[in-house]
Amino acid sequence: MKKIVSLILIACMILSFAGCSSSGKETLKVAISPDFAPMEFVDTTKTGQDKYVGFDVSLAKFIAEELGMELEIMPMSFDACQVAVQTGSVDMSISGFSWTEDRAANYNLSDYYYAGENETEQVIITIAANADAYPTAESFSGKKVAAQNASLQLELCKSQLPADCEIVEVGDLTTAFLQLQNGDFDALAVAKGQADVFIANNPGAIAICGFEFEVDAAYEANVIMLPKGADELTAKVNEILAKAYAAGYYGEWYAEALELAGAETSVDVSYDDDGNVAG
Ligand code: ARG
Repeated sequence: MKKIVSLILIACMILSFAGCSSSGKETLKVAISPDFAPMEFVDTTKTGQDKYVGFDVSLAKFIAEELGMELEIMPMSFDACQVAVQTGSVDMSISGFSWTEDRAANYNLSDYYYAGENETEQVIITIAANADAYPTAESFSGKKVAAQNASLQLELCKSQLPADCEIVEVGDLTTAFLQLQNGDFDALAVAKGQADVFIANNPGAIAICGFEFEVDAAYEANVIMLPKGADELTAKVNEILAKAYAAGYYGEWYAEALELAGAETSVDVSYDDDGNVAG
């Protein structure tokens, strides 16, 4: 009896060391910050791992499947995702990362993948009542503008908004959006795709400011972030990205993500002369 118990214990230890799941497959740990619709967000009607949805989640599932591994989504804040990759507590992070010089120096970055038009434009949103208040960078003088910690948007704020604009670093964009509506700051810097989702879900409440960031083409598509030196896995990920692209999955995943985020249907809505939804 004792022998059996210790054999079972040893088997369990081996399995957990190898990162095995109940299916017997190895686990692929992917960090995401699920506050960035349509790339990664939470479907509140679901529970457990199923509640994480969006383009990057579809991509993560495809990568795990191609690697013959079991996917484990590890939700955390956007800056924590980057720390988790750096310390190796996850295999990679797929979280709408833009390529940046800084990240390229500190991580292994995959080839680009292109998720619709999510980040071809970078904008600042504000409450609808102030829609016309910010036509230029200078108009943010003396104002409070929020951006996510450790993000491209934060860098854009620091480099393109006036020196006397107060930049507020926020950890979570879902919370930041509520804070914006609550008046905690004047405006929030976000990817255009996310601005569209916020607006579609809060019609009439939010507006995109006239000022728009200038963005280098290098920042328009996304990359997967892996630990520096994880060259073998990075090469495999690049092969899988090429395969997904060739199969035409990117467009499918993006359309699906937009629909789940409630963005597509609202974009399609048309109104009659009385302002009622037509059809
Ligand atoms: N693309 C931007 C960046 O890399 C924003 C990404 C934010 N992603 C997220 N899951 N919150 O900094």
